[in-house]
Parts: sequence; structure tokens; C-alpha cells
Amino acid sequence: MKTVWTISLTGSATLAGATLTSSLTAAATTITSTVTPTPALFQHERVQLTEGVLENCSAVLQNDTVANMFAFPRNSTVSKGDVLHSCKVMPGDTAWPLDTTWDVFDTLLGGSLIKTVPLASSCYSDRPEYDATKCASITTDWLSSELHMADPASIMLPLYEGRSCLPSPYNYTSSCEQGAYPVYAVNVTTVAQIQLAINFARNQNLRLVVKNTGHDFNGKASGKGALSIWTHYLKEKEYLPAFKAANGYHGPAIKFGSGVQVWEAYEFAKSIGHSVVGGEAVTVGLGGGYTAGGGHSPLSSMYGMAADQVLAMQDGRFITASSTENSDVFWMLRGGGGSTIGVVTSLTVKALPQLETTTVTFNFTVNDTPGPDAFWAAVGSYLDNFESFVDAGTYGYYYIGASSAEIGTTYAGDTDYYFRMESFLAPNMSVAQTEALLAPWFNSLNALNVSYTPWYNHADNFHDAWVVSFPEEYVGTDVVKTASRLLPRSVFQNDDLRNQTWAAYQDAVDQGLFIAGFHISGTGIAVEPPTDTSVLPAWRDALTHVIVGSQWNFTSPWSVIEDSSLFVTKWMDVLRDIAPDSGAYMSEADLIEPNLQEAFYGVNYPRLYALKQKYDPTGLFFALTAVGAEDWEVQTTDPLPYSWNNNGRLCPKSS
Ligand SMILES: Cc1cc2nc3c(=O)[nH]c(=O)nc-3n(C[C@H](O)[C@H](O)[C@H](O)COP(=O)(O)OP(=O)(O)OC[C@H]3O[C@@H](n4cnc5c(N)ncnc54)[C@H](O)[C@@H]3O)c2cc1C
Ligand SMILES: *[C@@H]1O[C@H](CO)[C@@H](O)[C@H](O)[C@H]1NC(C)=O
Ligand SMILES: *[C@@H]1O[C@H](CO)[C@@H](O)[C@H](O)[C@H]1NC(C)=O
Ligand SMILES: *[C@@H]1O[C@H](CO)[C@@H](O)[C@H](O)[C@H]1NC(C)=O
Ligand SMILES: *[C@@H]1O[C@H](CO)[C@@H](O)[C@H](O)[C@H]1NC(C)=O
Ligand SMILES: *[C@@H]1O[C@H](CO)[C@@H](O)[C@H](O)[C@H]1NC(C)=O
Ligand SMILES: *[C@@H]1O[C@H](CO)[C@@H](O)[C@H](O)[C@H]1NC(C)=O
Ligand SMILES: *[C@@H]1O[C@H](CO)[C@@H](O)[C@H](O)[C@H]1NC(C)=O
Ligand SMILES: *[C@@H]1O[C@H](CO)[C@@H](O)[C@H](O)[C@H]1NC(C)=O
Ligand SMILES: *[C@@H]1O[C@H](CO)[C@@H](O)[C@H](O)[C@H]1NC(C)=O
Ligand SMILES: *[C@@H]1O[C@H](CO)[C@@H](O)[C@H](O)[C@H]1NC(C)=O
Repeated sequence: MKTVWTISLTGSATLAGATLTSSLTAAATTITSTVTPTPALFQHERVQLTEGVLENCSAVLQNDTVANMFAFPRNSTVSKGDVLHSCKVMPGDTAWPLDTTWDVFDTLLGGSLIKTVPLASSCYSDRPEYDATKCASITTDWLSSELHMADPASIMLPLYEGRSCLPSPYNYTSSCEQGAYPVYAVNVTTVAQIQLAINFARNQNLRLVVKNTGHDFNGKASGKGALSIWTHYLKEKEYLPAFKAANGYHGPAIKFGSGVQVWEAYEFAKSIGHSVVGGEAVTVGLGGGYTAGGGHSPLSSMYGMAADQVLAMQDGRFITASSTENSDVFWMLRGGGGSTIGVVTSLTVKALPQLETTTVTFNFTVNDTPGPDAFWAAVGSYLDNFESFVDAGTYGYYYIGASSAEIGTTYAGDTDYYFRMESFLAPNMSVAQTEALLAPWFNSLNALNVSYTPWYNHADNFHDAWVVSFPEEYVGTDVVKTASRLLPRSVFQNDDLRNQTWAAYQDAVDQGLFIAGFHISGTGIAVEPPTDTSVLPAWRDALTHVIVGSQWNFTSPWSVIEDSSLFVTKWMDVLRDIAPDSGAYMSEADLIEPNLQEAFYGVNYPRLYALKQKYDPTGLFFALTAVGAEDWEVQTTDPLPYSWNNNGRLCPKSS
């Protein structure tokens, strides 16, 4: 295969007095491959950076110092000891690239470099971005994920960037600082731009961040002083009706650019008569941190994890990974988490059949029951039925707390209990079949005199059932800290452990925490999970993924956040003791989880760590809690222990 694509370099930059003009348009890349990559590359993947392109750039630049900033790594062997000796460079440091260098970078990128500002800076009159009209609109939309995903630097959970610039009334201070929002972002639409950004960050010792949507629970897409690679616009989609995968799979598949989001993937799959495994949440990315971290779905109890669906991936280094090509990378990128060794540019996943699907939504509060005992007995009856629900291939997403609000617990000791079934989703089931499955639980609710009104919704395909039952969730606030645990089947088969779990739920709420839980398994009833992924093994035996959260308010000082965070981490010991050999889902977990590597990665950790050293020995890719993160610390500027958020310089771990 031989294809020539032109990297269109337009614009101009001034370098040491000479003006670099659009003459760089001559740079082009030729992809010559003896083996046809499987699947074929997307257009955005064909525009690649090569030594030849760099040589031509260098000839135009006529300055080796600058040209070398964009060079690929030399072949000299780098070992961990050599490179873990210096902190990443930040703005204000003498080693920080000059403005003229950033201009050259932007020119080479074809103008896709963005000097980022905090999204809410338009609300601050002392900022050049001040704009009352824009501020009003941002404030109105602040809790909506669309606002943050469309911004090159914003993240959904500003706690992890240091709550540095928030619109009123969400603000903690009356100033707007850059915080841990990256300082530059590359709005990538080609592989060449990704390669250029990676080379520049490596050669200049910059902190590098990858942002897709910014949904990560621990703000993994932020980083103080960083250069960010923003993958949001890698939106290509292609149906491959008869894909032959290296692992033996032969059947329908869909190739998605890594910027494709859940709702786009579901709509595309429906349009071609299929469904795909994706998250419950409308705007989570499909191909970024979600699949890399394992990815749970309303279809997981039926078909397994999102990572199980992947047949091939393409990565910005630039390689194709499958079960026969770069198989160790393929293993690592399906379960080992985002931001580890490279940037995924596309993934090819199984296109699953369309199944009729029923969803059920209902809620009750303690006032809909004879009293607290009946309320908790009703919750206990749900736990008694987890096994049969999961074994039928269903999924449930529920909230429990004490508050007159929909979500959360107002204060410790509040008995204003509520239970909310956001949605119980039954793939391949009619309404009558779903009613029959729910009967044992609903009979006990009836016997307890709990009043509730289940709303049944049915469609002949997954998308149409999902779209009305999973409203978009609120984001944008900094008032929650979560911890989580996967609890295995053995817990629910043992009367004592099941009872302890039930008592723990009640204790959590009584202590001021709230629960966001799922009945779910990482082993779908319709499939055998693949054995060549790095998905946390605890997912395979799980019957539930339980998130427990503590809360404070917008103006709470950092000391309250620290205490509250430690409290929920400590409280989780109850579930850790009930299921000591299990683990926690890295993408919805506790940043300060004890024995974090074991909890998030299980037995896979030593191999993941070794691969990290093999493919990224200099630690160019970093994210809090990611593989190898324990070798680094974020020297937070907020009054918090190191590595509690991203608002600080990234340095090799001291001592
Ligand atoms: C409201 C909400 C609902 C959620 N629902 C679900 C759910 O139903 N199921 C579920 O499993 N999870 C869910 N999550 C968690 C979700 O899986 C994680 O937040 C995940 O990290 C999101 O990935 P992202 O790429 O969209 O986000 P980002 O925050 O942009 O990225 C997450 C991490 O992946 C890295 N990354 C992103 N793209 C790439 C890439 N192309 N190559 C390499 N690294 C990359 C980033 O650097 C970062 O470290 C939910 C989160 C929220 C806030
Ligand atoms: C480099 O420039 C030369 C001269 O303009 C051109 O012939 C060649 O194709 C370019 N090489 C690449 C890889 O773009
Ligand atoms: C090359 O660029 C660097 C950085 O801008 C500058 O300091 C140096 O003087 C330049 N060298 C020449 C020969 O122009
Ligand atoms: C670097 O190593 C690769 C693979 O070992 C080899 O193909 C390439 O020619 C080497 N490049 C240089 C500049 O030595
Ligand atoms: C939040 O911003 C508003 C408006 O700028 C300001 O009046 C208020 O004092 C700020 N709140 C805090 C806690 O600083
Ligand atoms: C990013 O690039 C996309 C695609 O080229 C473009 O539509 C969008 O406006 C750009 N966004 C920003 C903030 O530059
Ligand atoms: C769906 O249900 C039908 C009928 O019970 C069954 O034959 C089929 O195997 C089921 N499909 C899946 C994916 O479980
Ligand atoms: C439920 O209500 C019925 C009728 O009011 C009553 O007889 C029964 O004792 C109640 N049961 C419980 C468990 O509260
Ligand atoms: C709770 O259920 C009642 C009906 O039983 C319904 O009117 C209400 O909208 C539900 N609330 C939520 C938050 O789902
Ligand atoms: C369940 O636990 C509660 C409190 O922890 C205890 O009172 C009760 O006897 C237990 N029930 C069973 C069946 O073990
Ligand atoms: C907010 O938190 C502060 C500090 O914990 C507390 O003093 C205050 O009462 C809280 N305000 C509200 C409205 O909950």
C-alpha cells in the first residue's frame, strides 16, 4: 500500500529574525507498508510524521536547536534510572520554550495549537477574557458535560485541577487561576500532530496530558503547566460488515476514532442494525479512558466489558495493535488504563446484534414505607436478588442516600432515606419477562408495604431503550469524593457476608455517605471473556460495583475536603474486609486507595509496569493512579498532601 498525504502547514512564525512561511506545505508523508494494516487506516491516521518530513522541516527552519525539539527519539537505550531525575518544566522556568518556539510548533501543527484559558475566565473582570454575556451562558451550562467536553482544557470534576477558576455560585475563591488546566492544547485531527506533540513534550521535558472528554473521576485529563493532546475531534466511524480479526473473530465490526462518544457510537451502531458495548452515560468517550480502563456497560452482564470487544487498536506511535501484531501493547491498552504508553487514535470493536431491551425506573423514600426498618429491608431484598438479576444478563444503576434531593446525603444521621433505581436494564427481554425476573424482589417490596411505581419502557433495540432511561448526568462541581469496591459472587452467596454488606450500606448512609451502585458483571452471560486483556480480574466474578461518596459544599475549605476524603477512604475498609481479594474499578475509584496498584490492576500489575518501562521509560505519559504513577508526585500547591490533585509541578517521587 502506498499513499501520499500532504500535511498542510499554513501560517507563519518568526524565528530568530527569519520568517517561516507557508512554504513548509511541501512536507508530506508517504506511508509504505508491506503488510496492509488491519483494519485500513482512517484518513486522520494516514497523515503521519516521518524522518523525511522532519528533515524537510529542518531544512526550512535552518536552526538545528529548534528542529531537534521535534525529532523522534534517538535509539540510545534509556533506562529508568537515567530519566527519573528531573521535574517537568513549567511556565516561568528558564527551560520553558520561548514564545517563538511555540509559534514554530503551531506552524508545524497547521495552526491547531490552542493557548488555553480556564473556561470560566470570562467571569472574572481582572482577566483579559472577561465577557459578562459569555459568563452568563457558561454559568447556566456549568453542570452540563457538553460545555466541558467542548473546551480544550476543562474537566468534569474541577476538584482535581484545584478548583481554581469557577463561576459563581460554584466558586471557592474570588479569583481565577490557571490551576491544573493545561497551558497549551493541540486540537488534533491527524496522527502527525499527535506525533509532533509527543516529540516536542519529550524533547522539552514538558508535562504531557491526553484529554478526550475529561470525564475521569480523578481528573486524569488535567495537569499543571502541561501540553495537552485533545482527541475530541477524532470522530471517524466505519462499518466493517465482515471483519477478520487476528484473534479469530470473523463478523461485523465497527471502527471508531478515539474521540467518538457513547451516544455517537450507539446511534451509529443502531443505524447499521447493531449495538455496541459502551457506558451508561451519554457523553463519556468510547475510545479513550473508558475502554482502556475496562469500561462497564448496561450490556456488560450480557456481553462483558468494553475492553473485551476490541479487535484492533491504532496508536499514535504509530502502530497497529491486535492479538498478533504488537500483542503486548494490545493487552495493555485493554484494561491497563488511559495515558500509559501512547495515544490511541482508533479502535475496532465487535458489532453486536440488536436485542429487544426493557428498562425499569422507580424510586421510593422512607416516607413510602412503614418506616426505616422496612426501607432497609427493601434494600436488603434487592441485594438478595443480585445473583439472579446478573445471571439473567441484566444491569441496574441505583442511588441510596438520605436527603430530600435526588442524589446525596445531607448530613450524618439524616434519616430522610431514598432509593432510586435510575434504570434497571434487561437486554433480550420483553416487559413480561422482566416483570417475571423482578417478581421476587417486588413481592417482598409489596409484603413490606413499600409503595413504588415501576415505569417500564421497551424497545426492539438497545439504543432506543437506553436513550430515554439514562438522562445525562450533572458534572462540573467539586463537592464529592468517591471510593469504590467490586464485590464478588461469593459475598452474595454467603448469608453472613451478604448481610454484612447490607449492614454496611445502612452504616454508610447513617454516617453521611451516599451510594451509587450497580448490579453488574464483567463476564457476560452470552460470551466467554477473552483471556488476553489486562482487565482487572475482579471484574469477572463481580456482581456489584459500589461507589460510596462523601460530600461538602462549594465554599468548604481544603481542610474539610481532606477530612472528608480520608473519611470515605477509611470507611471503605468495611467493604475491603468483606471482599479482601477483590479490587476497585480504576475509572470510578478513590485517588488515595490503599494498595492502589493491587486494587486497580490486580495480578496484572507487574506485567503492566514492565511494559510501561519498556515503551515509556522516560515517563512521558503520566496520570494520577495510572500505571507507573507511583514513581512521580504532583507537588500540589493547594494545602493538600502531594498527589491529591493535579495542581502542582510533576516531579520524580522524593526519597
Ligand atoms: C457522569 C459519568 C458517567 C460515567 N459512566 C460510566 C459508565 O457507564 N461506565 C464506565 O465504565 N465508566 C463510566 N464513567 C467513568 C469513565 O469511564 C471514566 O471517566 C473514563 O476515564 C472516561 O474516559 P474519557 O476518555 O471519556 O475521559 P478523559 O477524562 O478525557 O480521559 C480519561 C483518561 O484516559 C486518557 N485518555 C483519553 N483518551 C486517550 C487516548 N486516546 N489514548 C490514551 N489515553 C487516553 C486520559 O489521559 C485520562 O488519563 C463515567 C464518568 C462520569 C463522570
Ligand atoms: C522533502 O522535500 C523534497 C523537496 O521539496 C520533496 O521532494 C520530498 O518529497 C519531501 N519529503 C517528504 C517526506 O515530504
Ligand atoms: C536557533 O534558535 C534558538 C532558539 O530560538 C536561538 O537561541 C538560536 O540563536 C538560534 N540559532 C541560530 C543559529 O539562529
Ligand atoms: C533505530 O532502531 C530501529 C529499530 O531497531 C531501526 O529500524 C532504525 O534504523 C534505528 N534508527 C537509527 C537512527 O539508528
Ligand atoms: C464567588 O464569586 C462571586 C462573584 O464574583 C463573589 O461575589 C463571591 O465572593 C465569590 N465567592 C467566594 C467564596 O469567594
Ligand atoms: C478543533 O478542531 C475542529 C476540527 O478541525 C474544529 O471544528 C474546532 O472548531 C476546533 N476547536 C477549537 C477550540 O479550536
Ligand atoms: C435471546 O433470547 C433468545 C430467546 O430466548 C435466545 O435464543 C438467544 O440466545 C438470546 N440471545 C442472547 C444474546 O442471549
Ligand atoms: C402492610 O399493610 C397491611 C394493611 O394495612 C397491614 O395489615 C400489614 O401489617 C402491613 N405490613 C407491614 C410489614 O407493615
Ligand atoms: C420517582 O417516582 C415517581 C413516581 O413513582 C415519579 O413521579 C418521579 O418522577 C420519580 N422521581 C425520580 C427522580 O425518578
Ligand atoms: C444481619 O445483620 C444484622 C445486623 O448486622 C443482625 O442483627 C441480623 O441478625 C443478621 N441477620 C442474619 C440473617 O444473619
Ligand atoms: C458549608 O460547609 C461549611 C464548612 O464545612 C459549613 O460551615 C457550612 O455550614 C456549610 N454550608 C452549608 C449551606 O451547608
